[in-house]
Amino acid sequence: MDIQAIEKAYSRYVKIYDAVFGRMFLPRLRHVIEKLALSPGQIVLEVGVGTGISLPLYPAGVRVAGVDVLDTMLARAKAKLPGINARSVLLAKMDGRRLAFKDNVFDHSIVAHVVSVADNPHEILKEMQRVTRPGGSIVIINHFRSENPASLVLLKAFGPLCRKLGWHPDFALDPLIARSGLHVEDVYKLHPVDLWKIVWTKSSPRN
Ligand SMILES: C[S@@+](CC[C@H](N)C(=O)[O-])C[C@H]1O[C@@H](n2cnc3c(N)ncnc32)[C@H](O)[C@@H]1O
Repeated sequence: MDIQAIEKAYSRYVKIYDAVFGRMFLPRLRHVIEKLALSPGQIVLEVGVGTGISLPLYPAGVRVAGVDVLDTMLARAKAKLPGINARSVLLAKMDGRRLAFKDNVFDHSIVAHVVSVADNPHEILKEMQRVTRPGGSIVIINHFRSENPASLVLLKAFGPLCRKLGWHPDFALDPLIARSGLHVEDVYKLHPVDLWKIVWTKSSPRN
């Protein structure tokens, strides 16, 4: 989807986003943030931070930069800051395909429920690779094409809403990874019939 189309789709759902999707999305975000075992002082990037449902999950002392292309989503994320350690969170309007950060500044980076929405998502992953220090994790959470019959039934049920939000039920992981140049270390689901996969990759040294 181009940014205008994303804006149109999400302006309809921004008010109900947390109530409808927050519950569905939180378990995988919580899992990833816990597994990263973050320590105070570390800095994490979230591309497509949306309404910031993950922000309260970060441990105290961890610094988070959340970027998104939509003001409407970022406004919701900003409204959450008083409840958390706001000094540690930077929220900025930014296209993940052109990050305004220097190389190797983040310890880890996360892109959750974004790659099937954005145009040319491999460009987002390349940028995440550039700004994440070598050895840091780059984690993708998304639904990807599945042959599991139970997942297919679930997808059919959610299909119409998914399409309105720009998610493509048949979005494939392998071509995305091939175009981004990332090296996948692990791919799994939290539950066998989960729609979403968690993809762990590592930022590698650059010349
Ligand atoms: C389904 S929401 C996911 C939000 C959040 N990560 C979550 O898990 O709740 C997708 C978000 O990706 C953002 N997005 C889409 N394309 C983007 C891009 N190129 N750069 C940054 N954000 C983008 C949208 O504006 C939207 O907020």
